Amino acid sequence: MNNTLIKNTRIVTSVGCSARKGEEMKQLKVVEDGAILITDGIIRFAGPQSELYLPEYEVTHRIIDAEGRVSLPGFVDSHTHLIFGGYRPDEFEWRLKGDSYMSIMERGGGIQSTVNATRKASAEELREKALWFIDRMVDMGVTTVEAKSGYGLDTESEMKMLSVIESIARDEKTPLSVVATFLGAHAVPKEYKGRTGEYVDLMIREMLPAAKGKARFCDIFTEKNVFEIEDSRRFMKAAKEAGFDLKFHADEIVTLGGAELAAELGAVSADHLLHVSDEGVKAMAEKGVVATLLPLTAFALKEPYAPARKFIDSGCAVALATDLNPGSCFSGSIPLTIALACIYMGMTVEETVTALTLNGAAAVGEAAATGSLEPGKRGDVAILEFDNINFLPYYVGMNCVRGVVSKGRVVKEP
Ligand code: NIG
Ligand code: FE
Repeated sequence: MNNTLIKNTRIVTSVGCSARKGEEMKQLKVVEDGAILITDGIIRFAGPQSELYLPEYEVTHRIIDAEGRVSLPGFVDSHTHLIFGGYRPDEFEWRLKGDSYMSIMERGGGIQSTVNATRKASAEELREKALWFIDRMVDMGVTTVEAKSGYGLDTESEMKMLSVIESIARDEKTPLSVVATFLGAHAVPKEYKGRTGEYVDLMIREMLPAAKGKARFCDIFTEKNVFEIEDSRRFMKAAKEAGFDLKFHADEIVTLGGAELAAELGAVSADHLLHVSDEGVKAMAEKGVVATLLPLTAFALKEPYAPARKFIDSGCAVALATDLNPGSCFSGSIPLTIALACIYMGMTVEETVTALTLNGAAAVGEAAATGSLEPGKRGDVAILEFDNINFLPYYVGMNCVRGVVSKGRVVKEP
């Protein structure tokens, strides 16, 4: 049933159909004694309960009594590498002993190791594994997820990954909404080692046309010794001309100018940004590029956190996401993301809520469809255990989500 009525709830939500920038990020609308009416998967009303005549919906709607608890918009995890073969636990242990992420990658491990496993895996295996992670996401309140390809790195395997994402996105039974990103430019595959330009040619010639219609976004790992600025510019210009919206893995390991390039090409988001320059922050603010920050990756790699305050204070829109992947960040923890953002990145609780809801939605081009509790948007709601959003970082790393409604359907029983 896609008809749900949540009563006796404290509604806490950002407002609008676009990213909230800078100062606006902390402005949340709060409705005490609220009710949220969702019919056919769409929010029809979100406001004071006194304005609804509840008995009218008793037969047609599933009624949830939130008993004063907070309802937030469902979380949007706007950056994940959800589809992958194998795991890399040994690499994690090498890093504990002092190896760096890039040195493992340069030795042929890292992303290439997951590429080997993903090429071997069947679509069905990849799908089953992704669904396992999706169940855990929903449990933490995620109702929209972005999923990237990028562990195929040849046309056939990249399309296998995108088809898996497509099949999950289209399946009525999937408990959340899915946005697909083509990330063929995640690394230069071993068969093209030393021939980055030729791999870029292959992606432009074969992969972009094949990915069209399967993925809305095109992403790239713009990094020293991976795709440097000139290759990134050439490829992403072609992707833009082919009709993709753009995302960048930018300035993750070293300061390279990925943020500036994202601004130059009018990307929707630039992500990571641990080593962004001041010019990069400024350029992103000017061009309205969403800064998607991924604190779990910085934590897992023992790198400095991205300068969230600098972005917000410069008038940028910041989103937060998990970066779930089998290498740099094998975690999809929304609770820990919130705790790190508040404790180490200086974000306020209100800002983290906006970053994980409306701004996450904007980062995946879905701000008109979800990310806030307003009429006309999808019925995506996370009901917390508590009546106060300060529990989100305060209950450190622990799941505060008691119930979840996605597309109007109860997908986690409160
Ligand atoms: O976002 N940096 C590039 N891509 C991923 C990691 C992928 C991997 O290690 O498998 C990231 O950190
Ligand atoms: Fe990533």
